[in-house]
Amino acid sequence: MSHDDFPTDRPAVVTCGLPYANGDLHIGHLRTYVGGDVFARALERLGQKTAFVSGSDMHGTPVAVNAERAGVSPEAFALDWHEGYAETFPKFNVSFDNYGHTHDGANTALTKEFVRSWIDEGLVYEKEVPVAWDTEAEHPLPDRYVEGTCPYCGAHARGDECDEGCGRHLEPGEIEDPVSTITGNPAEYRDRTHKFFEVSEFAEYLSGFLDRVEGTANARNQPREWIEEGLRDWCITRDMDWGVDYPDEDASDLVLYVWVDAPIEYVASTKQYAERVGDDAFDWEAAWRATDVPDDPTEPAAGGGDLVHVIGRDIIQHHTVFWPAMLRGAGYAEPRAVMASGFVTLDGQGFSTSRDRAVWADEYLDEGFHPDPLRYYLATNGGFQRDVDFSWEKFRDRVNTELVGTVGNFLYRSLLFAHRNYDEAPIADATSDEVADRIDEAIADFEAAVNDYSVRALGDAVIDLARFGNEYIQHSEPWNLVDEDPEAAAGVIHDCVAIARAIAVLFEPITPAKCERLWDQLGEPGSVHDVTVEAARESPGGDLAEPAELFEKIPDERVADLNEKLEARVAEVEGDADDEGSESGETSDANGPNNDMSDINPINDDRIGFDEFQELDLRVGRIEAAEGIEGADELVRLRVDLGAETRTIVAGLKQLHDVGELPDTKVIVLANLEKAELFGVESNGMVLAAGDEADLLTTHGDAVPGTTVW
Ligand code: 2FM
Ligand code: ZN
Repeated sequence: MSHDDFPTDRPAVVTCGLPYANGDLHIGHLRTYVGGDVFARALERLGQKTAFVSGSDMHGTPVAVNAERAGVSPEAFALDWHEGYAETFPKFNVSFDNYGHTHDGANTALTKEFVRSWIDEGLVYEKEVPVAWDTEAEHPLPDRYVEGTCPYCGAHARGDECDEGCGRHLEPGEIEDPVSTITGNPAEYRDRTHKFFEVSEFAEYLSGFLDRVEGTANARNQPREWIEEGLRDWCITRDMDWGVDYPDEDASDLVLYVWVDAPIEYVASTKQYAERVGDDAFDWEAAWRATDVPDDPTEPAAGGGDLVHVIGRDIIQHHTVFWPAMLRGAGYAEPRAVMASGFVTLDGQGFSTSRDRAVWADEYLDEGFHPDPLRYYLATNGGFQRDVDFSWEKFRDRVNTELVGTVGNFLYRSLLFAHRNYDEAPIADATSDEVADRIDEAIADFEAAVNDYSVRALGDAVIDLARFGNEYIQHSEPWNLVDEDPEAAAGVIHDCVAIARAIAVLFEPITPAKCERLWDQLGEPGSVHDVTVEAARESPGGDLAEPAELFEKIPDERVADLNEKLEARVAEVEGDADDEGSESGETSDANGPNNDMSDINPINDDRIGFDEFQELDLRVGRIEAAEGIEGADELVRLRVDLGAETRTIVAGLKQLHDVGELPDTKVIVLANLEKAELFGVESNGMVLAAGDEADLLTTHGDAVPGTTVW
């Protein structure tokens, strides 16, 4: 089933993964929030009724453990961080319609309602499970209170997630060699009675759901493997005091696992928004509730709106396995799309909060930077599902080249010329066909980007339009026409102001505050945040204010200064705590340093001779079979027909392609590459692919497997 294109006549809800209320935000954390905000604004620009919601994740061991270390109650601790986040997001123009938290009455009541519906549907049962126990502290050790070895991939892992290895959710009792994080002692397992949600009942439904769900490819591809391995039921209670109480007398000493009440906050937060603005403005039930849940597991529920979840790629399983099952079991609609972002690295390495190796959200602003350039960088530097590397140098380059050099330059030269020569945008008969067509093309690119869930392409639509604007003003030379042919000069300037107006509308999702300023400069009435893309087609007619540069250039000395500060800070912390291991749970550099491939690399000047080229044995191949490699986030094992023989080749395609659709694809293979062993599989050759989305190289004609590529 494919969904209708946006805009639809249903209400949409865009959500961002809830941050745990347990520590400072750095710019790496901002990626999904900026991505969600850009996407929600873009939907609104298309005229889609949209609620953009999130909230703080207050419960669970991520909060309890840190609160204990800080010596305060989890409630006071989490509320403090929550208030900080609620202030920080708007400073980056991340404008949630509602930002709640999981400990408030709306969420706890709704969570209990969900659980009661599952109980009524017979989807919850009780079972004894081994729970890790600290015998010295006489303390049960749920989730982050215990660490050990992942039973699936052997990596060091937390009690409930293999955060440094395969990324799987771990059930109580699964982690091997458990060690208490309270005392550092080996933990023992004790049997305890807990409640389980029957996720296994939803296997058939989830398999169909994954065929329907839109968004980034990684969100569909990773969970397929987990479902094929067989779904296990999910332990939804914990031996803790901090959390939402289990809503039944028979287990009143247990709280719900944090991953139960966390996503329900998406619904509770929407409800709070609807209660504030009124059902006519936004009907939360029309967005979330199913009108009919068919018995046939292959059929989606009827009703509901367009639900889009924007998350980090470490929580795909929760959003594409547990969450759709939770919704279905309680009579709710299913997500339309899951957009799972890659991580952000800092100069090729993971952020480390313990080493202070981070660019903190507040620090960025305190340095005097405007939030919008960072939004632009985070939203457009590579495809959404790829990791993005941040360095002050890269940031400077993109700001100076694209924002200042391309967009800012076009706007400033056009608007300054217009302001000096005309009081208001000169009213030509109409925008010229050439410019009107180009603006239409930019709007079409914008619409396509939304329907492709590509925040990066939203940026490209505007940068390309500004490039066109620069060429247009340059070759039209209005400055030479003013005296000779004032009418023609007025026409060109009218066109340029029309392009500027279109930029204000189409760039609003990425650089909202800057576009509002541009809208003012253009003398347009109201706010650019309230118009739709149709406004980009309208003729400009406002009184032009004296323009000021929209974006500021970042000088090289500033970069040097910022790097020095960062290095000094890290050195200071490292001096204090010399060789502390890499902090778990933080973005890792697993994909290698500098994996941002958004910029075109300079072409290598080091020429090779034809003989050297001939040493590469490039062949046409045909993929016969493809399957994910267990324990490897990105790798697939391919069986490739090379005519004379069939080879096993390992390729990093899992997150970027639908693995089930790879068979039968023709590919180009470097056949005489040395063999290599990856995750225990011998790879015999390399499949060629282009760019950061691993666009597979193929043939245009009928070349058969084995054909040599010249
Ligand atoms: O992994 C995390 O940071 C969780 N706090 C995300 C929760 S998202 C959701 F589903 F609520
Ligand atoms: Zn693992």
